[in-house]
Amino acid sequence: MSAGPAALDVDGLLTRTPTVRRRLDLTRPVPRPLLTECLRIALHAPNGANRQNWRFLIIDDPRTKAGIARHYKATSDAYLAATPPGAMSERAVAGVRYLADHLHRVPALVLAAVHGRLPHDAPLAQQSGFFGSVYPALWSFMLAARSRGLGSALTTVHLAREREVAELVGIPADEVTQIALLAVGHITGGPDFRPTPRRPLDEVLSWNRWQH
Ligand SMILES: Cc1cc2nc3c(=O)[nH]c(=O)nc-3n(C[C@H](O)[C@H](O)[C@H](O)COP(=O)(O)O)c2cc1C
Repeated sequence: MSAGPAALDVDGLLTRTPTVRRRLDLTRPVPRPLLTECLRIALHAPNGANRQNWRFLIIDDPRTKAGIARHYKATSDAYLAATPPGAMSERAVAGVRYLADHLHRVPALVLAAVHGRLPHDAPLAQQSGFFGSVYPALWSFMLAARSRGLGSALTTVHLAREREVAELVGIPADEVTQIALLAVGHITGGPDFRPTPRRPLDEVLSWNRWQH
């Protein structure tokens, strides 16, 4: 069974929001108000001490996208080259490669960042709070986008060239840390998706005493 956004209840939305790479519509622009609507909703996500140190840069200018896409392609190629054979399915590799080859044509890129830099020896709680204060908002954005007929892919490979991308878009990299880049577009081929494949609950859940 598959379901489009109109038919999706909350559980359907949460279980049928995949990473969309090959089915992003590269020919149809995404209106800015649609993107800001998703972001306004995403800003209600939980975050450490409600500091809301997150910042978002939406890139829809073709030249800037092309610049980011060049760095994305280089870092994605390096990532795939370093991935041991068999670690990813051929289909998954093809999807990752497709996005890297077409990122410059994706209608909108949402770059999420946070004010501050984490010391390399930061305690675990600080590290978790730092990155974890942005990811819930990114997932909320993806869900809000999905419920509006948009697809998205959450990516991090370009961070291997964080400084280069910072320079390209004017981010003061000594004060601001990039967290992730969302590729966003309308979905081609109908808005239906199957539940995203995941390990069964029994493989990942213990009760009272760790079993894994
Ligand atoms: C922290 C994080 C980083 C990711 N980085 C990338 C990336 O750089 N490139 C990419 O194509 N997908 C990236 N993904 C997407 C994952 O590959 C995807 O979520 C996973 O394969 C499961 O597929 P699904 O989201 O369609 O269920 C990332 C996801 C997360 C949560």
